[in-house]
Amino acid sequence: MLNTTFANAKFANPFMNASGVHCMTIEDLEELKASQAGAYITKSSTLEKREGNPLPRYVDLELGSINSMGLPNLGFDYYLDYVLKNQKENAQEGPIFFSIAGMSVAENIAMLKKIQESYFSGITELNLSCPNVPGKPQLAYDFEATEKLLKEVFTFFTKPLGVKLPPYFDLVHFDIMAEILNQFPLTYVNSVNSIGNGLFIDPEAESVVIKPKDGFGGIGGAYIKPTALANVRAFYTRLKPEIQIIGTGGIETGQDAFEHLLCGATMLQIGTALHKEGPAIFDRIIKELEEIMNQKGYQSIADFHGKLKSL
Ligand code: SIN
Repeated sequence: MLNTTFANAKFANPFMNASGVHCMTIEDLEELKASQAGAYITKSSTLEKREGNPLPRYVDLELGSINSMGLPNLGFDYYLDYVLKNQKENAQEGPIFFSIAGMSVAENIAMLKKIQESYFSGITELNLSCPNVPGKPQLAYDFEATEKLLKEVFTFFTKPLGVKLPPYFDLVHFDIMAEILNQFPLTYVNSVNSIGNGLFIDPEAESVVIKPKDGFGGIGGAYIKPTALANVRAFYTRLKPEIQIIGTGGIETGQDAFEHLLCGATMLQIGTALHKEGPAIFDRIIKELEEIMNQKGYQSIADFHGKLKSL
């Protein structure tokens, strides 16, 4: 019932983790592989291993989460090794997703060249939207720099590639970004990363709740669902149909998933709720989405995918 075609490959269902949650180590990744998730993605890697920001740097909140992880990861080679081994052993399964987030344009290009030269046959996600590295702005808020980077990338990169975007908040910005993205043979756009640089405070302690950046961090979970839905919808209605959408942001229940699919998302990534509930969330959310579809008389996702009505 939830069979999904994405990047010309078949997946049992559209659910996967959002990069950053439950995907730092091989043990985490193996748990995702063994879960009911239709696909899974590695933690965004940098060329060299990174410790990330000081603790505490991730806090679950009643309506979501705040984090300023700062891209802690075990380094590009660790994840490349894993995805290469994994695709060999599981050739019959849907492709694995490999996320990268270079500290600079040159680092992104270097990693993409290594991926291109390797025998990796999965899907690469280029994270242009991490809000948590002090002194490094989110690249996808700089339209010219994004266009320049993608021009360079597609002079040599021929494998499936998606970009992870930050949320946009202005219709003109959706227009500008969509026009840029439509120039390239991108496989997908992933909207959205956390809403960058929010501030959550503990009024009793009269204090911030995370240490890095004086408490400023990316907001995820229920707080951001309307923004995520708007970004999915805005790109679904502006991008050429060859560029599919991954919906990320505030997916915790079958209903949240249904809404993202209705807006035009094809795959669905779960971050905050996966962090709170662990990989068992995939069993629950699959059942909840199937129940909604049964109640509405839908046989497949195609029956309602992207078909949000206007008034
Ligand atoms: C982080 O490691 O800071 C989170 C990654 C991201 O938001 O892209």
